[in-house]
Amino acid sequence: MKIVSSEMKNVLPKTHLNILNVATDLSNQMDTDLYLVGGCVRDIMMGLNNSNFDIDLTGSNVDKTFATRLADKLGGTVKNSSVFGTHKLSVPVGIKDNLEIDLAKCRSETYKNPGELPDVKPGDLFQDLGRRDFSIAAMCIVLQSPSNQDWKSGQLIDPHSGYRDVVNKELRVLHNESFADDPTRMFRLIRYSCRLGFDIEESTKNIFESSLNYVTAVSGDRIRSELEKIFDEEDVALILYNCVKLGLLPAFLTKFDCNHLMELKSISHLHRDDQDSVEFWLGILAMNAGKSQIEYLSKILSLSSKQNDVINDLASLNEQIKQNESFLLSDDLRQSDIYKFLLKYRLTSIRVCAETTPNKAIKALLEIYLNSLINTNIELSGEDLISLGISKGPEIGKLLNDLLYAKLDGHLKSADQETQFVKDYISVHKDIN
Ligand code: CTP
Repeated sequence: MKIVSSEMKNVLPKTHLNILNVATDLSNQMDTDLYLVGGCVRDIMMGLNNSNFDIDLTGSNVDKTFATRLADKLGGTVKNSSVFGTHKLSVPVGIKDNLEIDLAKCRSETYKNPGELPDVKPGDLFQDLGRRDFSIAAMCIVLQSPSNQDWKSGQLIDPHSGYRDVVNKELRVLHNESFADDPTRMFRLIRYSCRLGFDIEESTKNIFESSLNYVTAVSGDRIRSELEKIFDEEDVALILYNCVKLGLLPAFLTKFDCNHLMELKSISHLHRDDQDSVEFWLGILAMNAGKSQIEYLSKILSLSSKQNDVINDLASLNEQIKQNESFLLSDDLRQSDIYKFLLKYRLTSIRVCAETTPNKAIKALLEIYLNSLINTNIELSGEDLISLGISKGPEIGKLLNDLLYAKLDGHLKSADQETQFVKDYISVHKDIN
């Protein structure tokens, strides 16, 4: 029997331990068993001290009433409940942060056809652990033992030798049909292998290879959702590299050329640094795509209109850069020219292009725009122009732009110089009138 209470104390933040105590008290009152399960247990057993722990709890009687009562006790809310009888709670921790707690009744799952969602039935704890993808996700820690078992609080229940695999740093499926049942698990396999630095165990590798063809049975929505999870990881480039190397992305995107993703691994700075990381990485995926490839990608992944806009915008930026290369690389190109050329494109497209263009001079231009030009502001406002004598109307906008261009080109260094620029403009235009 392995008791892991001290591992829990070492790894989990105090806030989380308090939440577990409250949940355990509630399960005691409501006469249900309760277990910490899934990724949270894996991380505890790995000694991973990270503050982003979500909590997954399961028990044979963890239902809506349990979820509502727990949310009340913790001052949180039940954010949503699914058809599978799972409940997502959002609970305040600290002043600004919220923690997500996933609650579920122990269940069993059966899969009729590859790629389809499972039939879900209430089950016991062992069925609940046995329905999971990898051995390291199929462990749980007892918080409240059922009355018919002699389990201690803090006891690790590990029927699939997940702890051994944690120690050996291996990812292992629980049975041969795991990827056929749910081909999205193949994306999870690569994601966890890169995140945790785990090897893929030999027979799991063989099952993966012989299951690749099942991936086409999965809906575009579900594959996009797996890609979005990948885009949220620390080292996206490495995961995408492996998704191509192991043949998974090509098996799904049969008419799309993914080979450029093999080059990403060597670009070590290609880590997440973009607020719009999903769109950024979709852009990376589509960075070389022409019109028909973009249409294919959009359709097969059921992209949202925002996601579509980004990859179309990127394609048009790439095209315009190609067509205007000699202008962009000419000696007399001004900063304001760069600004005017790029202003109509999304920042995400420009970032993707800056990260991936093989042309160093173009990359430098894009970086000047991103790091300096877009942060340039003039001192005078529209109101200032009116008080200097410019009439309300479109002339104000035009003059504000002219001021900005002059500043970008280094002609204006202070508010006084901007005022002088406006006065000169007025006197020239008076003379003309
Ligand atoms: N799961 C599965 N097959 C899937 C998705 C999920 O078997 N296609 C199981 C996993 O075993 C996991 C549980 O469902 O234990 C919850 O999945 P998820 O929330 O995605 O992952 P976590 O285990 O919470 O891990 P992490 O948040 O660290 O990714």
